[in-house]
Amino acid sequence: MKITAESASLSSRRWDIVGGVFFDTDAANTGLLAQCPPALASRIGRAKDLKDFSGKKDESLLLYGDADLPSDRFFITGAGAPNDFTLERLRAAAAVVAKKAKACKATTAAFIVPSDAAILPGISGEDRAQAIAEAIILSLYSYDSYKTKDKKPNTVTRFTLLLEDQSQAAQFRKGVASGTIIANAVSHVRALANAPGAEIYPATLADDARTTARACGLKVTIFDRKKIESLGMGGIIAVGSGSQHEPRFIILEHAPRRPQRTIVLVGKGVTFDSGGISIKPSAGMGEMRMDMHGGASVIGTMEAAARLHLPIRIIGLIPAVENMPSGTAVKPGDIVRHYNGMTSEVDNTDAEGRLVLADALGYASNYAPDVIIDLATLTGACVVALGHHATGMMGTDAQTMEALKAAGEKSYERVWQLPLFEEYDKQIKSDVADVKNVGGRWAGAITAGAFLKNFVGAHQWVHLDIAGTSYLEEAYDYIPKGASGVGVRLLIEYMRSLK
Ligand code: BES
Ligand code: MN
Ligand code: ZN
Repeated sequence: MKITAESASLSSRRWDIVGGVFFDTDAANTGLLAQCPPALASRIGRAKDLKDFSGKKDESLLLYGDADLPSDRFFITGAGAPNDFTLERLRAAAAVVAKKAKACKATTAAFIVPSDAAILPGISGEDRAQAIAEAIILSLYSYDSYKTKDKKPNTVTRFTLLLEDQSQAAQFRKGVASGTIIANAVSHVRALANAPGAEIYPATLADDARTTARACGLKVTIFDRKKIESLGMGGIIAVGSGSQHEPRFIILEHAPRRPQRTIVLVGKGVTFDSGGISIKPSAGMGEMRMDMHGGASVIGTMEAAARLHLPIRIIGLIPAVENMPSGTAVKPGDIVRHYNGMTSEVDNTDAEGRLVLADALGYASNYAPDVIIDLATLTGACVVALGHHATGMMGTDAQTMEALKAAGEKSYERVWQLPLFEEYDKQIKSDVADVKNVGGRWAGAITAGAFLKNFVGAHQWVHLDIAGTSYLEEAYDYIPKGASGVGVRLLIEYMRSLK
């Protein structure tokens, strides 16, 4: 599917489906109605007169055109009050149209871009186009690699964004280009996270990172178990010791010529989390194939950053392990020594994410980073606290957290800060080691963050707990059920916002 932006008139060609946004206030619809041939405008007016459609949010109107009109179908989505309209509502509207195009097996589709000056004031054409392109691609994603029937492939080959205003065309083309790069990276993350543990285990996750790196010009280094052991990454070795699949440590590097700064991204890459000896209950355990979502998000972010030529040095670190119970598995009561020399007591083998992240966070110091950001499906407690609509954020770097908050609002991959007060440190004190990997019943998301804090040294650091936002039990506008691909849009927006 190719998305293009054109300042062409609706009547310049014939389409299988044309979508547009209709507000509940007449004055805001003049742009759309001006694009419509009179016969279509009067049919929309008729639906309004009959009170079948008023432009309220979540309403829609499907009209059919014969040879007299430039499209077989017109799908108008209600957008509510123009003053309440947001970039996210624009994404939702584009997603509704794209899904309709797919449902009626269209091959050519167009979306009339709302262009009245009063709509989304202050938001550039580039941002609008990026949002629309992302929403189209992401809403058409489905995970069906293993389906042999009932596949629902996308039939649309050309999706045209129709602009009223010629002067915006260049901006829109830029936005479509970056939106396409970003959304394709998000789809890649979803595919990795949705894949079963039998397909994606540490070695195959590393293979994917290698293939991705070659395709988009990233440097890649993979450490195998022996190398991981010789480096003293005891957390990764311990968590991986119960599995037939040996761990890997994946390093990706985006190194532009004169980088403004260095950012290290760390992603939890637990390719399956059974809980280990502290085994999880069987109900829903299959979801834990997605416990490498943070690692996948790092791969996707690096891929998009390289394709967008971001002027920042970015290092991606992914400790990839499978957490399994067996005769060789790490046991409660064991003590591991991490990369930075600190020791931790394994009180519960299901708190494995922090054990592997500890090594990777310590390793991040080697790059003299300006900031370290980790992404991890770390705690069920974070899902209890924030549900599926916000990523938990903790850290030592107030400025980066502020910037991430703003990037989260704009990309709509929102983050919400939890405190890391020093009082919480007491909960992870160990009698026998420097720290313990569980902190008791209360504030589980925070005590996990407090554990990680021990391994970042003096570096600026932000931890993103994506346990709730990475896996959706119910579909949203442009996010299907299953892996959401969260992280890429947030981090790319954050990194592009840096001056
Ligand atoms: N991968 C899980 C966290 C998780 C839970 C992610 C639900 C996504 C959805 C993590 O490794 C884990 O098992 N955490 C434990 C920690 C506990 C033993 C301290 C948890 O949250 O129960
Ligand atoms: Mn676990
Ligand atoms: Zn886990």
